[in-house]
Amino acid sequence: MIEIRGVHKSFGTTEVLNGIDLTADRGSVTVILGPSGSGKSTLLRTINHLEKVDRGHVRIDGELIGYRQEGAKLHELPERLVLKQRAGIGFVFQTFNLFPHLTAVENVAEAIRKQPEARKKATSLLEKVGLADKVDAYPRQLSGGQQQRVAIARALALDPKLVLFDEPTSALDPELVGEVLDVMRDLARAGTTMIVVTHEIGFAREVADSIVFLDGGRIVEQGPPAQVLDSPQHDRTRAFLSKVLV
Ligand SMILES: Nc1ncnc2c1ncn2[C@@H]1O[C@H](COP(=O)(O)OP(=O)(O)O)[C@@H](O)[C@H]1O
Ligand SMILES: [Mg+2]
Repeated sequence: MIEIRGVHKSFGTTEVLNGIDLTADRGSVTVILGPSGSGKSTLLRTINHLEKVDRGHVRIDGELIGYRQEGAKLHELPERLVLKQRAGIGFVFQTFNLFPHLTAVENVAEAIRKQPEARKKATSLLEKVGLADKVDAYPRQLSGGQQQRVAIARALALDPKLVLFDEPTSALDPELVGEVLDVMRDLARAGTTMIVVTHEIGFAREVADSIVFLDGGRIVEQGPPAQVLDSPQHDRTRAFLSKVLV
């Protein structure tokens, strides 16, 4: 369903993605691990074309993201069509990025405000993430874990084909991490296609179909959790895991 082929991305002279090849099936959960600066966020951002790739391509359900192909040539899609593609891809950020002046339900309904049943749908999404009693609360009245669950509900509002998570629990107090991971686990069980950057190894082990270890803008190693976490083949993977598996 998701196909990333030969993706390269530089910022100035720094090559941040060095030829990434990655595929993921519908309904699968892919966890991306890697040290700070290894290119994890940049990789997620190329998937929904928040970053333009220098080389290579991303396809979702066969459709090129950000480009249309004519013969051998790629033409950039107009912004309007990029936005349409992006609407089919949910994105959950480390910092929840909710609108402070909107209530929980208004934050979730914002992207679908033109739909007649926007509020009803937003309410049911909030129920799904366990926030039925917080529908009318403002972000400042919610804990970090609750705010992140609102952000997840918001990411689901447009019925995305795919949801990307960039360290969704890294900004949370430790006691609030579990409630967010529980929601993500439920989504995975319900068949949501997810790509998750996280350092939560327990979650990765339990939920991931595939784990990808990224270092220096390259995929060093990938495979099922038992393989990558329990018998990593590369020194760099072992060194990284020894630091996060404390
Ligand atoms: N917009 C940008 N401009 C310049 N350099 C960037 C930009 N975004 C990321 N980088 C650099 O790219 C590298 C990888 O960043 P990032 O993808 O955020 O890594 P990670 O998420 O794994 O920590 C870092 O060295 C970072 O400084
Ligand atoms: Mg990052």
